[in-house]
Amino acid sequence: MEEKVTTTNIIFYVRRFDPEKDASPRQEQYTVPVEKGMTVLDGLHYIKQTQDASLGFRFSCRMGVCGSCGMMINGKPGLACNTQILDVTQSALTVAPLPNFNLIRDLAPDLVPMFGVHQNIQPYIQRSDTAEREDPSMEYFQTPHQLEEYLQFTYCIKCGCCMAACPTMATDREYLGPMPLTQIYRYNTDSRDDAGDVRKKFVSESHGVFNCHYAGECSAACPKGVDPARAIQLMKKDLVLGYFGLAKHGKCAHLHKKPDKASWKAKIEVPAHTVGK
Ligand code: FES
Repeated sequence: MEEKVTTTNIIFYVRRFDPEKDASPRQEQYTVPVEKGMTVLDGLHYIKQTQDASLGFRFSCRMGVCGSCGMMINGKPGLACNTQILDVTQSALTVAPLPNFNLIRDLAPDLVPMFGVHQNIQPYIQRSDTAEREDPSMEYFQTPHQLEEYLQFTYCIKCGCCMAACPTMATDREYLGPMPLTQIYRYNTDSRDDAGDVRKKFVSESHGVFNCHYAGECSAACPKGVDPARAIQLMKKDLVLGYFGLAKHGKCAHLHKKPDKASWKAKIEVPAHTVGK
């Protein structure tokens, strides 16, 4: 028997503002017939297709991966494609752009400055053994415990929700912000990297980690379960211990000879379709 589809009319209150044309932001009201499973992004598409083609918002993957559709939904930062309308309301919801960013138009914030800071902190693994890096002859050994130390911070999709939630960002636009700071921690903690000292100079500067007063809003806002507040507190601890000469200097991952094929083949059954067979 076919399941009966029920539709609920939900009022969307959407913040509209075009800095090139409008003197001030306004709120527009739209009615969206919502079925179970519809996301906020689906609702915005419905509005754009049936009521107002000029509505501006950003999206790409529609599956919580690209980080394009971050916005304020009922006053909280979240991903429009990852938020089901009926999970947050049965009658009305408000949609607004992420704060703490300049606005391009309507629901699309300008994320370019955030990506600029991210680029500056050198978010990639760097090693001093250039010869080995350019012509690898061995493997970098990393234990499961060493992987665990930074793994959760790799799940960041750079959506800007943490930056929008951060009260320090709201008062200090030069603050590096939870996303870049977390990525500094991610690379500095990776045992394969040895550029920690280069990145630490960003962390300890006047708009670095010590401007964070641990509100924890960044971690509450992250749609991927990353905990930027934890990364920031751990970096503060590292810096203080370093100042007193008590920091543990983790050694950069050492090189291990690749196991010869015959020995690992004997231990691990490789499926027939695997390249390494
Ligand atoms: S559209 Fe990619 S995360 Fe929402």
